[in-house]
Amino acid sequence: MQIFIDSAEVKELKALAETGLVDGVTTNPSLVAKAGGDFFESLRTICGAVKGPVSAEVVAQDYPTMLLEGRKLRQLADNIVVKVPMTPDGLKACKTLEEEGHPCNVTLCFSAVQALLAAKAGATFISPFLGRIDDGGQDGMGLIREIRAIFDNYDFQTQILAASIRTVGHVRDAALAGADCATIPPAVFRALYKHNLTDAGLEAFLKDWRGTGQSIL
Ligand code: E4P
Repeated sequence: MQIFIDSAEVKELKALAETGLVDGVTTNPSLVAKAGGDFFESLRTICGAVKGPVSAEVVAQDYPTMLLEGRKLRQLADNIVVKVPMTPDGLKACKTLEEEGHPCNVTLCFSAVQALLAAKAGATFISPFLGRIDDGGQDGMGLIREIRAIFDNYDFQTQILAASIRTVGHVRDAALAGADCATIPPAVFRALYKHNLTDAGLEAFLKDWRGTGQSIL
């Protein structure tokens, strides 16, 4: 499963890219507002730091303006992916932009039939928001499983990008459910490394090694 980071914080993304484990980035207007700074400049820097897909969202709601915004965003860097909302105009823009060779990520997906429509529009990515579904007392991971089954039934190539991830368990379950990618907040990404038995085991190994009085270098 590809690991994307869900953030627009340039400094943070540069640091995480150095782990060598980051396959891409997703941003959205709320994350951009939270990060501050110039939108276009930040995107250029992020696209330089992370070689994989970097989603940047259009804010227009009508088809013609979405096309203009999407094409403009794509001029920033080759690895920009145009994020469009799961609306009739958004899917129409997705179809046109994909036909022009601009990869799209359809965002704000909350049902399997929405994902089916996005796949039919030729989207490169569909983003089911599993955390927000869980927040509403429903089964976000169930949606990932449904979309996986539908895409496999018809051999759709659209990649399932599990979004609105809140926990380490979400990452594990998205991988088990067959998501192609998960976009993960920085804090959750850092938590993926952690296990109390890893910490305790390492401490014991190092204590025993010190007792030998030897060194490797
Ligand atoms: C996905 O691309 C979105 O940016 C994101 O995952 C939304 O997550 P949230 O529900 O935590 O805002």
